[in-house]
Amino acid sequence: MSRLSLPRSFVSLPPVLFTALLASLLGGCTALAPAAAPAPEFSSYVVLGENGRAVARVLIDAPACPALQIDQRSVAMTVRSLPATVPLRPTVSPPANSKPAVFPLLTCEAELPATGSYASASVLGRALPRPVAAPQRIVVLGDTGCRLADHAQSYQACNDKDAYPFARIAAAAAAWQPDLVIHVGDYHYRENACPDGNAGCAGSPWGYGWDAWRADFFAPGAALLQAAPWIMARGNHENCSRGGQGYWRWLDPRPLLPQRDCDHPANDKLGNYSAPYAVPIGQDTQLLVIDSASTSWRGFKPGDTGWEQYRDTYRQLAALAARTPRNLGIVHHPMLAMGADRKGDGPIQLLKGDAGLLQSFGSLNPLYLPENIQTMLSGHVHLWEQMSFSSPHPSQFVSGFSGTAEDIVPLPEQLPAGVTPAPGAVVEAFSHWIDGFGFMTMERQSADQWLVLIHDLQGQIRNRCQINGRHSRCEQAQVR
Ligand SMILES: [Fe+2]
Repeated sequence: MSRLSLPRSFVSLPPVLFTALLASLLGGCTALAPAAAPAPEFSSYVVLGENGRAVARVLIDAPACPALQIDQRSVAMTVRSLPATVPLRPTVSPPANSKPAVFPLLTCEAELPATGSYASASVLGRALPRPVAAPQRIVVLGDTGCRLADHAQSYQACNDKDAYPFARIAAAAAAWQPDLVIHVGDYHYRENACPDGNAGCAGSPWGYGWDAWRADFFAPGAALLQAAPWIMARGNHENCSRGGQGYWRWLDPRPLLPQRDCDHPANDKLGNYSAPYAVPIGQDTQLLVIDSASTSWRGFKPGDTGWEQYRDTYRQLAALAARTPRNLGIVHHPMLAMGADRKGDGPIQLLKGDAGLLQSFGSLNPLYLPENIQTMLSGHVHLWEQMSFSSPHPSQFVSGFSGTAEDIVPLPEQLPAGVTPAPGAVVEAFSHWIDGFGFMTMERQSADQWLVLIHDLQGQIRNRCQINGRHSRCEQAQVR
């Protein structure tokens, strides 16, 4: 789907007709058939949070929130955040390349009843995806926005669906009919203006307001947002000096606390961190979702805010993990995978797991993660990767290849002896795909076993892996 052929849900109605339609719906007129009028411009989706609680969200240009229709009942939605223009705050860009974030829409939400207790839910005639108690088919994708970054002098061709294929990936992932979608973080990348004369990104919105979020995520992701409930992990692109305002308004599944909105830098300590939460997925298994938005590859030392915050995160994670025999962890920054970098024509440098998390978690547990976490799912590195260990560490998958410009520095087919992403972790199997866009799927085979498939843009399966407890193996060591 190109940026010019937006889904039907984004077709604007004339304001008068839109207001009339909305007024009739808000007035309790439930006789209006879904096909009676084009859908108004709004985004709708379902996000899963603490203990699997499902929250329906609607982003809409309207004076009041619409009602949900749950079976025969009309259920009011409440306002999560009001339209606003937030004064310019410090960002990763100098003020001259920044602008106030404009949020013109009303953000509405309502918690859905317990899974299995209702047959259907909809809003303004559009069905909402229904959570299932034990998802069998899971899409895992991440790093999906179109990179426009002055600090990296990097301008992706957002107007070219081959160079920026998130809409195609979202449509293909939706067609796979998942029960659940896991986004491992980094949704927003359009931070700065497209340079004059660059046709590849000409006309793109930029900055941290709704227009850039819509172009980066809500419009290209629409098909997948309607296909299944989501788990929306938080990436570093959603910390307070980047897209944090949008994260708290729209993606975080929990109630929006006063001052926890990244609007004012004085409150960033509240806005940059949040507690992990658990989503049960059947067979005595949980997904543990970790907010790593403000960690640092440079690492932390005792006394640093990050050191204390992520040590707290570890303690809460361990308590959550102890509730069930098996867990899959979701954290944006991989702790147990490798990346590669090269400066100019210099040698390739292998990059280790995130130092901030390894140091802070490792100060409480030398193995870094609770023993009943079987697998970690991450993004951040713009590639696909798998690692399995002969030491007592979980398998690690990286699924950061779903739209943002890819990393192209090659990884070796086999790691040199003794090379490891984390001290003490002994690699027994390693597989990766560099410079290919796609998404990953997981199909449940038993309590401890999953089939993992790596899908490319043409609908081909490029690699096939098997998770068995903490161990995993893939058919191809290096996808070419
Ligand atoms: Fe990232």
